Amino acid sequence: MTDIWQSAMDHAVAVARKAGQVVRDAVGGVQKEAVMVKSSSIDLVTETDQKVEKLIIESIKEKFPTHCFIGEESVAAGEVCLLSDSPTWIIDPIDGTTNFVHTFPYVAVSIGFSVNKQVEFGVVYSCLRDEMYTARRGKGAFCDGRPLQVSQQQDIRQALVATEFGSNRDPPAVDKMFSSLKRVLSIPVHGVRGAGSAAINLCLVASGCVEAYYEIGIHVWDIAAGLLIVSEAGGVLMDVKGGPLDLMSRRILAANNRSVAERLAKEIDDFSVRRDDDAS
Ligand code: IPD
Ligand code: CA
Repeated sequence: MTDIWQSAMDHAVAVARKAGQVVRDAVGGVQKEAVMVKSSSIDLVTETDQKVEKLIIESIKEKFPTHCFIGEESVAAGEVCLLSDSPTWIIDPIDGTTNFVHTFPYVAVSIGFSVNKQVEFGVVYSCLRDEMYTARRGKGAFCDGRPLQVSQQQDIRQALVATEFGSNRDPPAVDKMFSSLKRVLSIPVHGVRGAGSAAINLCLVASGCVEAYYEIGIHVWDIAAGLLIVSEAGGVLMDVKGGPLDLMSRRILAANNRSVAERLAKEIDDFSVRRDDDAS
């Protein structure tokens, strides 16, 4: 990576911190009527999500006016979600909006940056806990400047696994989520957890607190930053069925090593979701 991306990353860290302050100031004050819904009655969005995304994009545009953007709330407002080879900022202003609404303390600002469809750096600011996770391709992953390293556990029967149920309540999808969960629990693993934020789940893999995380139904903005944090901490990323990870497919399996990931992939039941780049 050339130096030009270092200054972009420094800007991402600064703007994530500023955005996180706005989120911190707003948490606890969300009135019921201020909670809106998107793809389903449990896919929540608030004015703070929209305000924070605007703040982040305006600040980045001032410094990098030619760059492209994929932002969760801009896409919700009708912008296209297309990942090109151009420098692209992939933004989730609040990852864990449901947590934010309920004051559950895992809420993140997530900013990934890709060039040629490859993530060059990622910043996840766990703003209620004031933890700044960062990674630059080829340069390691850090939390508040401390290097991160995935768990060294090889035996999946000694693993903690994170997953989420997302906001898809279609009965066939829910059946598949539960059958996967049953099969994963029956391996058996030590336990199953979920922070309520895909970005934070990925940071937990990178930190060695959980061995793996999988989910079908996430979006590119939930994972763009966190996936680099996992790989730079020594972890692996793949599709939930074990093939290569496809950023726009809305499926992810992240783990501390390949054998844990491949073992887990055998237990995950597949279901289809519409791709992020499906404009039809
Ligand atoms: C959601 C969170 C959640 C995951 C969903 C995501 P949002 O993001 O990351 O943990 O289960 O799939 O969409 O809506 O809070 O930005
Ligand atoms: Ca969000």
